[in-house]
Amino acid sequence: MKKRIPDFLYGGDYNPEQWPENTWKDDIKIFKQADINSATVNVFSWSLLEPREGEYDFSKLDKIIDNLSAANFNIVLATSTAAMPAWMFKKYPDVARVDYQGRRHVFGARHNFCPSSDNYRRLARELVLKLAQRYHSNPHVVAWHVNNEYGGNCYCDNCARAFRKWLKNRYQTLEALNAAWDMNVWSHTIHDWDEIVVPNELGDAWGPEGTETTVAGLSVDYLRFQSDQMLDLFKMEKKIIEQYSPNIPVTTNFHSLPNKMIDYQKWAKEQDIISYDSYPAYNMPTYHPAFLYDLMRTLKHQPFMLMESTPSQVNWQPYSPLKRPGQMRATEFQAVAHGADTVQFFQLKQARGGSEKFHGAVIAHSGRTDTRAFKEVAQLGHDLKRVGRTIQHSTTPAKVALVFDWNNFWSFEYVDGITQDLKYVPLILDYYRQFYERNIPVDVISVDDDFSQYDLVVAPVLYMVKPGLSQKINKYVQTGGHFVTTFMSGMVGPSDNIYLGGYPGPLKDVTGVWVEESDAVLPGQSVKVKIGDQDYDAHLMCDLIHPQGANVLASYDSEFYAGTAAFTENQYGLGTAWYIGSRLEHAGLSKLIDYIIRVANIHSLIPKQTPLEITKRVTTDGRELYFVLNMSNAEHFLPKSLANYHDLLTGKQAAPKLNGWGVELLSKN
Ligand code: GLA
Ligand code: ZN
Repeated sequence: MKKRIPDFLYGGDYNPEQWPENTWKDDIKIFKQADINSATVNVFSWSLLEPREGEYDFSKLDKIIDNLSAANFNIVLATSTAAMPAWMFKKYPDVARVDYQGRRHVFGARHNFCPSSDNYRRLARELVLKLAQRYHSNPHVVAWHVNNEYGGNCYCDNCARAFRKWLKNRYQTLEALNAAWDMNVWSHTIHDWDEIVVPNELGDAWGPEGTETTVAGLSVDYLRFQSDQMLDLFKMEKKIIEQYSPNIPVTTNFHSLPNKMIDYQKWAKEQDIISYDSYPAYNMPTYHPAFLYDLMRTLKHQPFMLMESTPSQVNWQPYSPLKRPGQMRATEFQAVAHGADTVQFFQLKQARGGSEKFHGAVIAHSGRTDTRAFKEVAQLGHDLKRVGRTIQHSTTPAKVALVFDWNNFWSFEYVDGITQDLKYVPLILDYYRQFYERNIPVDVISVDDDFSQYDLVVAPVLYMVKPGLSQKINKYVQTGGHFVTTFMSGMVGPSDNIYLGGYPGPLKDVTGVWVEESDAVLPGQSVKVKIGDQDYDAHLMCDLIHPQGANVLASYDSEFYAGTAAFTENQYGLGTAWYIGSRLEHAGLSKLIDYIIRVANIHSLIPKQTPLEITKRVTTDGRELYFVLNMSNAEHFLPKSLANYHDLLTGKQAAPKLNGWGVELLSKN
């Protein structure tokens, strides 16, 4: 058993190697004013640690770690393998990635190592070994942070060779591979393993990476392979660390909205704790980060680390507005409300050079503590000091599950037709938003999760259905479960070949429908769907549905298919399955979800709808904590049902009104 992280961490990335040593003590003083208790170090220091191959210099890192240890900080120790020193590119050009256009990287930037390079692997292994040997006994190290934000793909010859091996292992014979990829199309049949090339822009793929391909079976396999190849690197580092430091949790920071190229559900099994870097864009609705946090929590069904976030603004979005007064506190608490057990920033001290010098930080260029941003960071630090340990390790129970699956993400976005606008995340978010706005807790599960613990499983655009999945869904519904799916579901197997016999393939039984064809709705146009006595707009695509046992609950109300089924319900064993044939506007989908949650007996955390975001975490001793978040600038009233609660942040009875970006953390006692 590994140790748990001993405290609710408040801190973040700290790069003192960018600063004169005589400034470090003052940094710590400032951090302490904000109740910062943790620092993540050594994320990008390889070229200082190993200035020439095999010559190591840990003197600076020793001092950094001593300084933090003396201040009793919790240290998250990174391995520095995400940015390679110049000498490495020079001496071993194969360490550098070859991009989708077939160009090899030269020295520069970061996150550009080839996952199949033996030289990269060997050099990373040696560095991590030295780090583990040197720092494993430091009691202040509370977690290991491997590499940084894995992602992106390589298309080099080493990767091509490794890919062929991976394929041999998956398919065993060329016949099986040709069949899986349906290679008689366009004369693609392969007669020798060496004929397989990577699906880059010069080969079978086109358009932005991950969006267009001639052979989706090949392209999806390549993404699976690259994700596995990177995972192998993670496991390599983790194994070395564990030889010396068997009890300390090891993680790597997940990222993006979410990152498409890494199968986080597969990776989650290898993480001791999930950690996530959260940078919602300024124009993103607040349900989007909430969705990501629920996804991160559900990866292991455990609290996660908010490994990075910005205390004020980022520098890399097209526009980087400041977080408004109070906004930072509310957005960090939003992560905690959905399951984060740490609040960490990028970064603790603003750089004076390099590409991130205008990225917000705890200590800004002014170096002052009488600033708005610093005062807000300090306020949050005081809050977390007060409530962090109460929150830590609490769970977030949910009766609704939303299916999000990386294989589906990949294959769905390779679909060529019938509309070019098939984007996975927005379609999932349509459904997430429904539950978010009703304050109904949601787990964002994979297809491999146990469905039986949920009263309702929602699986929009479940395009790829691997063997065994439809049986699992059938059983879930037969035994009383409630299941929702939509257009573009049950279409293909694991190698992206169509299930014949009518859509939605193996989901025809449970849904009680078959789909004859689908119409693409043109941009700016819509098709009407009549729900009750009102028409709503449908976009993107419309399935032409034949009920086969299912009841029709709503029909199209325009186009030549007016009067035919748009939304159906099927009793299947003890449960119910619904099929939604189109992308409905929010108000229309809301009607359907109102109905579905009534049938499935799903309830909000509070009796009445409110614009406030409300979640519940339950402590290990059964205490219920309600997070009440005002994720807007306008004032809102606390729901009556929570009026008699006690606010752990103020130590007083819950205030009846929340100001813009206000937060309350309520408990009965
Ligand atoms: C990422 C990286 C950090 C930093 C931040 C800036 O999350 O992991 O090193 O570049 O972005 O927002
Ligand atoms: Zn490569």
